[in-house]
Amino acid sequence: MKALVLSGGAGTRLRPITHTSAKQLVPVANKAVLFYGLESIAEAGITDVGMIVGDTAAEIEEAVGDGSQFGLKITYIAQERPLGLAHAVLIARDYLGDDDFVMYLGDNFIVGGISGLVDEFRGNRPDAQILLTRVADPRAFGVAELDPSGQVVGLEEKPDRPKSDLALVGVYLFTPLIHEAVRAIEPSWRGELEITHAIQHLIDSRADVRSTVITGYWKDTGNVGDMLEVNRMVLEGMDRRIDGDVDTASETIGRVVVEEGARIVNSRIVGPAVIGSGTVISNSYVGPFTSVAENCRITDSELEFSIVLRDSSIQGVGRIEASLIGRHVEVTPAPSVPSAHRFVLGDHSKVQITS
Ligand code: TTP
Repeated sequence: MKALVLSGGAGTRLRPITHTSAKQLVPVANKAVLFYGLESIAEAGITDVGMIVGDTAAEIEEAVGDGSQFGLKITYIAQERPLGLAHAVLIARDYLGDDDFVMYLGDNFIVGGISGLVDEFRGNRPDAQILLTRVADPRAFGVAELDPSGQVVGLEEKPDRPKSDLALVGVYLFTPLIHEAVRAIEPSWRGELEITHAIQHLIDSRADVRSTVITGYWKDTGNVGDMLEVNRMVLEGMDRRIDGDVDTASETIGRVVVEEGARIVNSRIVGPAVIGSGTVISNSYVGPFTSVAENCRITDSELEFSIVLRDSSIQGVGRIEASLIGRHVEVTPAPSVPSAHRFVLGDHSKVQITS
């Protein structure tokens, strides 16, 4: 069995972060979202992984390499444009050959891994198996309709009037039968070859398409709110570890991770929170559910429920909450006269000001 991991795409919902970097590499508790997925694939006993990459191929390849750090053998497959999830299967045909495979969306986050699901699929070997989870508002998702025996009878992409509250999770198990289906379908109104259409094609041709409803935590980290939420969840599960330097004027409370090479000076850190190596926090407060990556400077400021990517600096700006701050960002106070906000904001930036 192989895995097909999708790490291309446009990432429009995470702009401006995705103007300059891959959304699958945005860190959750200081580790790339994609790495959690690769670890759970390795854990499920799969070693051969085809990685679909787009515009951010160089960055993904630099981070993931040949996969040996995860115990995987990675083969990169270039997708010239994000033409849909089924398009990714189409271009991976030669790589996948006649093997069964698990398709994993590189920006999805599933707690509890996929070993159980992969074993179940190997045991029963239906033609395809999809994962579902109950969501409050299914209109933003692919939605499945099941018959009383749990067999999938229909799938709809982002329906106005959903037939159930069961949303498709970004992990799919396929036999080679899916290759005929992705060749048989036409692009949707948005110009993409939809995997829901390919699976519907299987259902219409009486293939055995089964589903598993997962009760564990799942999130598509496509937008900032979800990203912060996943970060909160992962930090909740961490143990306290202080490898860096905390001076006597500072306090670290609860599940706080201070990586080796980080320094906490005259500050208060309330967990769960993680401070990356090379980062210096001085005269500041870092509150729960915050991840600060490597080589940042947080000075005379307060930060809570936020993610700060590496090499950024926040200085003398009061309190920041519910924020995703990119790499090499500088946040500083403006001079008091004239009283004005001053910005250098990239395309698609979002700023909320309290004045
Ligand atoms: P999506 O989140 O559905 O699409 P997107 O990355 O284009 O994001 P947005 O909606 O914000 O513009 O993609 C799910 C995953 O699959 C993500 O990791 C990107 C990847 N993907 C591909 O590799 N190729 C594709 O053609 C598409 C559509 C997605």
